[in-house]
Amino acid sequence: MGLFDFMRARTSPPANASAPMLASLLVMAWIVEARDPYTGGHLWRVSRYSALLAEAAGITGGALARIEIGGFLHDLGKIGIPDAILRKADRLSDEEYAVIRTHPDVGARMLAGHPLAALVLPAVLHHHETPDGRGYPHGLAGEEIPLDGRLVGICDAFDAMTSSRPYRAGMPIQTALDIIRGRLGTQFDAELGTRFIALGEAGALDHIAGHSDNGIPLQHCVMCGPTLVVRREARIGEDLYCRSCGGEYHLQAGDDGRPLAVPTGRRGGPAELEPEADNDLIARVIQGAATRAPIEAMMMDSD
Ligand SMILES: [Fe+2]
Repeated sequence: MGLFDFMRARTSPPANASAPMLASLLVMAWIVEARDPYTGGHLWRVSRYSALLAEAAGITGGALARIEIGGFLHDLGKIGIPDAILRKADRLSDEEYAVIRTHPDVGARMLAGHPLAALVLPAVLHHHETPDGRGYPHGLAGEEIPLDGRLVGICDAFDAMTSSRPYRAGMPIQTALDIIRGRLGTQFDAELGTRFIALGEAGALDHIAGHSDNGIPLQHCVMCGPTLVVRREARIGEDLYCRSCGGEYHLQAGDDGRPLAVPTGRRGGPAELEPEADNDLIARVIQGAATRAPIEAMMMDSD
């Protein structure tokens, strides 16, 4: 059964008749993310952080569900960033960073005319705006920034700080929280940022950081660091591949009974390295959001 049949079977019409359309957006976001191997699991983590933060801020119903989905889709516009910049294994020059800064507008253009644009646009277009007005693309300040953008922006930045990149290891959770605290009211919404720090200091983010799904930590590629995403349905004996270097790994039973990725010394060919969306995870994300509110209500609830 394909993802879209799956979504039809798991959601009941007419309230969630838009679920297959929403699933197609999440598949696109997944394929876009697959081009940037160091962010394995980034969309899932930002979606989870965003839902937790929204709940902590008292956001419920359609707005909470919309923010959870927006967290997954926020970087859709990275489709327009050339690989040479997106995959650069070094710090970006000012010119390259200017190209990166186009991705919210590119994402908004991709969504122009899409029936679910209203649901997704606030996060896609505004997740790099900052309360001091020095963000992009529009330089909005304070409460001019839509709630979804302010909230997802905190979660996105936290995940960027705590994830490993080619030129640096991810920082500890507490270090990232301290950086957020130092930029409350300037880079980060003061109220939402304060709530996020409280969540982090209570340990409520520990099961998300460094993971790519509930209960599934990223595993280490010997060449590239924590880039290996093990899918929920993966079984002992299967092979998986580092999306960065193409290295092949064989899943063996680890000491704790969980699959452990062991390098084989081979590299994957084009067929093995083909990006393939995790349809099961995507269906779970949509199903989780849809239990909070029908998709139509996500577009209408303003807070
Ligand atoms: Fe972004």
